[in-house]
Amino acid sequence: MINYHAFFNQQLQALKTEGRYRTFANLERQVGCAPYALWHKPNGETKSVVVWCSNDYLSMSHHPDVIQAFQDAATLYGVGSGGTRNISGTARLHVKLEQTLADLHDKESALVFTSGYTANEASLSALGEGLPDCVFFSDEKNHASMIQGIRHSRAEKFVFRHNDMDDLRQKLASVDPRRPKVIAFVSLYSMDGDIAPLKQICDLAKEFNALTYLDEVHAVGIYGPKGNGLAAEQGLLDRIDIIQGNFAKAYGVVGGYITGSKALVDFVRSHASGFIFTTSLPPAIAAAALKSIEVLKADPSYRQRLRQNADYLKNALRKTQLNFIDSPSHIVPVVVGDAHLCQEVATRLLNDFQIYAQPINYPTVPKGQERLRLTVTPAHTKEMIDQLVEALDIIETQENSKQAA
Ligand SMILES: Cc1ncc(COP(=O)(O)O)c(C=O)c1O
Repeated sequence: MINYHAFFNQQLQALKTEGRYRTFANLERQVGCAPYALWHKPNGETKSVVVWCSNDYLSMSHHPDVIQAFQDAATLYGVGSGGTRNISGTARLHVKLEQTLADLHDKESALVFTSGYTANEASLSALGEGLPDCVFFSDEKNHASMIQGIRHSRAEKFVFRHNDMDDLRQKLASVDPRRPKVIAFVSLYSMDGDIAPLKQICDLAKEFNALTYLDEVHAVGIYGPKGNGLAAEQGLLDRIDIIQGNFAKAYGVVGGYITGSKALVDFVRSHASGFIFTTSLPPAIAAAALKSIEVLKADPSYRQRLRQNADYLKNALRKTQLNFIDSPSHIVPVVVGDAHLCQEVATRLLNDFQIYAQPINYPTVPKGQERLRLTVTPAHTKEMIDQLVEALDIIETQENSKQAA
């Protein structure tokens, strides 16, 4: 008979041996202190560290107006939503948020979910299950939530090589033209910081009569004239059928959404299990998301400062021998290429330089591609950027000489 505890321990030991057992840094991110956080060490001590891996890209989670909106709504409406959207859980603020999102992306309609993960999982599974004989065409670097949604729908799927339009074309052409098709892809891929060829995908979708499903999670709030994403920045809003996004990255809150035509969004609303059978977002969260969208829509200076800092970081890295991906975006990965070494670099950054950058390993990235995924914010100073690059350089030099010895 199976010994459950022995089994779990063996599996955990295997992760440790491979160097990809995940440990969490216990942080206190205090308002007004970004990008610093208080690190609670396992031995009970605390240390102030500079955070270099937050997805709160614009520090909006600490923005005074966003906090105020959250507090005001919580005071008025409480902390819970009271149910699923079907059963007493639809609040005025959900409706307002959905109208704002539809307007932001120039679509007829929007639907809010409890997270970006749920938005992808629920929408893609509802589409794949509902469209008769549907086929998905999914970029190989799509997020886990998209992969799960497609998988749960049980529809047929073709995985095309990352951003490879020849491969996508070939796969689209191999399928009966009468079958419903959905091309699922991401505008800004979060592990490499690269951008999809959006226009070319839209052209192929038109040629093969496919729906386009675009995840803009890492782009909303930052790109586009109103922070409305890369499709907006490239003038392609009308060519994307479903735009998915979230509030947890640049907007600094939590929750996810889709936008699209009235009929499509209503179809997902009426069929998606991950929408129907779960308690809706607390109205105070909706209020905070609304405020954050409003601030970033009106004031481009946040995203301008982010881009300036990202450029400064990439420039500094270009002067070193460090193996980094010179991405066109604000996400800057430094590839270490080995799980144990990546862990070691992250540990040394934290212990010796008070710099926190979580190691990213398999299955988030392929084995051999382990990395530190650096995310600069408007709150990082040039001195902090210089210190980070210098620390990485010192560690790299020391590791190289250790290996040579
Ligand atoms: C591309 C992409 N889509 C969706 C999600 C899920 O979003 P959320 O964190 O809001 O669940 C993530 C999260 O990291 C992501 O990177």
